[in-house]
Amino acid sequence: MNKPFRRRDLLGIRSLSAEEIVGILNTAENFREINAREIKKVPTLRGKTVINLFFENSTRTRTSFELAAKRLSADAVNISVSSSSVAKGETLVDTALNLDAMQPDCIVVRHSSAGVPHQLAQVSRAAIVNAGDGANEHPTQALLDAMTIREHKGKIEGLEVAIVGDILHSRVARSNIHLLTKLGARVRVAGPKTLVPADFSHFVDNGLEVCPHIEDAIDGADVVMILRIQKERMDSAFFPTLREYSIHYGLTNERLELARPDAIVLHPGPMNRGIEISSDVADSSRSLILDQVKYGVAVRMAVLYLATGGAAVGE
Ligand code: CP
Repeated sequence: MNKPFRRRDLLGIRSLSAEEIVGILNTAENFREINAREIKKVPTLRGKTVINLFFENSTRTRTSFELAAKRLSADAVNISVSSSSVAKGETLVDTALNLDAMQPDCIVVRHSSAGVPHQLAQVSRAAIVNAGDGANEHPTQALLDAMTIREHKGKIEGLEVAIVGDILHSRVARSNIHLLTKLGARVRVAGPKTLVPADFSHFVDNGLEVCPHIEDAIDGADVVMILRIQKERMDSAFFPTLREYSIHYGLTNERLELARPDAIVLHPGPMNRGIEISSDVADSSRSLILDQVKYGVAVRMAVLYLATGGAAVGE
């Protein structure tokens, strides 16, 4: 029998079963239509409180968690590091304990250090949701990517997925590799040698191929996922210039021709146009970048609902 998602915290995809992932995606499908209504509000989380605690910049994730909370009638509070007492020297754990003392139901956290959500989950009474921790995981991004793929391909099992770019610094790549391989996709990655971790082919037990060239990864792919160059996480030169990166690793229409004729293009955002992806590709009908953002709200509604005690679809 399938086991649904029933967890207090969402810390990553790695610890979830395929059934739990499908349970979250099916729950998100149920919430999706609320976002298309004229009055985008239901009372599902009335009386619940969600705190968005972001120590790194964000446009998509923070806004969509806030919208998700508000559309479910939860009270949402946003805290950024520049306006919090962390700037006065308070420790992360003390900040979390103080926020927890105000009895929120859920704390959504983004931090530049891997493992911060896991650390907070040990001291907090509220459910902790990982909105991105360093280069470790970005579980809701992988879930919204999966929702986008399911919507346009009807399935994930058996698909060939190319993930291209700055793999080394990418939490999006790691969460997606866990999710896609758990659901039966075959994943290939490619990027400059300096931006692909050594021994990455062993990152998951099966289904991951490290390709020497971007063309090898894209060849015959059903899904091409392009990653942002994460300049903020680079403390040395990983490639000579952005122009050279774009020449050798940028997704152009010419390179996309190698993929299947019905291949779709994903990018988590924010995009560096003309570097990892050409504007022609980013703005083409094969690009589902704004669909990803749209489904992000439904996924985060599902995650907040489940993290605060809701039952998954199928449960
Ligand atoms: N994809 C993503 O995490 O975007 P933001 O950094 O804008 O949240």
